[in-house]
Amino acid sequence: MRALVMTSPGGSENSHVRETDEPRPGPGEVSIDVAYAGLNFMDVMARRGDAGYATSWPYRPGLEVSGTVREVGAGVAGLAAGDRVAAVPAGGGLAEIALARAELAVPVPADVSLRIAAATPLGLTTALLLLEAGHLAPGDSVLVHSASGGIGGALAQLVPLLGGGRLIGTVGRQEKVAAAERSGYDVAVARGDRMAEAIRAANDGRGIDVVLDPLGTTALELDLEIAAPGARVVMFGNATGEPLGPLPSAGRLIGGNITLSGFSHRGLLAASPQKVSTAIRRVLGFLAAGQLSLPVVELPSLDDVPAAHDLLAAGHGTGKYVVRTPR
Ligand SMILES: NC(=O)c1ccc[n+]([C@@H]2O[C@H](COP(=O)([O-])OP(=O)(O)OC[C@H]3O[C@@H](n4cnc5c(N)ncnc54)[C@H](OP(=O)(O)O)[C@@H]3O)[C@@H](O)[C@H]2O)c1
Repeated sequence: MRALVMTSPGGSENSHVRETDEPRPGPGEVSIDVAYAGLNFMDVMARRGDAGYATSWPYRPGLEVSGTVREVGAGVAGLAAGDRVAAVPAGGGLAEIALARAELAVPVPADVSLRIAAATPLGLTTALLLLEAGHLAPGDSVLVHSASGGIGGALAQLVPLLGGGRLIGTVGRQEKVAAAERSGYDVAVARGDRMAEAIRAANDGRGIDVVLDPLGTTALELDLEIAAPGARVVMFGNATGEPLGPLPSAGRLIGGNITLSGFSHRGLLAASPQKVSTAIRRVLGFLAAGQLSLPVVELPSLDDVPAAHDLLAAGHGTGKYVVRTPR
């Protein structure tokens, strides 16, 4: 079977589609004939060699797939060959066949396409779990950094669905403002000078209730400056890959009535996988009920993935990318 293989830290020069052995499921696992796989910035972080992302080299990337169960391992109940699933593989999802723990392979309702389902196990599910981590309440204003990307687009769909109020995004380049606003942001602002003023102005002069920040510690000062009393700031990434700076003092958090927290899909998978599978089921339920939709950019073949990873690595991606992996 064909799979994307990253041979050593670097860029697309080290990413190749190769013939590899078909994986067979061990106890508690299923193998999946992958129909579509989602692309994620975390694959790019692994490819760059950011600490903690690629477990060993050569590395097989890919953290979310949809497809049909090919084979079930010993002790697996409730899934059978041929079932349509969306799953979180432990890497190796950008391939024609992937392995996943059975508890992380969730049945896809008949009226949800496998194309969209591929964006659920990591992308849409992370967006949902981030809003839970931020304790979104009805009417809350929400600020999202990197609003025009995959997670940003998923949040644009979920915030209104869950009753959120004003939705404001920041993007790294002026050219991405329009894409973020098209995806559902009330206002998007290119990061630059006088950001706090611009964000408050976009929220009718008020502070923000929920801030979702994947920019390491680089935007934390801004986050605290625009936080409303009672705000929840959730850190969930380190897009630059640079060493993280210090956290704000306890005095600033106490004085500002601000909660600062972190979120990691991977951390939750390890500690509490049922929370992740419950969230995947919930997102698939929203899709099945027609309450949620997510436009995706479809790549026709695994051969197109290294160039798409280049786009993401350069911060030029817009929206959510999925690749078709027919056998
Ligand atoms: N904690 C978790 O469990 C979790 C799960 C999924 C994703 N994430 C994080 O969420 C963020 C969005 O992920 P995604 O999959 O939606 O990716 P994406 O669509 O590729 O978005 C990544 C964005 O990061 C921004 N960025 C800032 N500095 C960058 C740099 N030095 N190089 C490249 N991009 C840079 C860019 O947007 P702007 O320049 O417009 O800001 C870029 O578009 C990523 O940081 C990812 O690591 C975290």
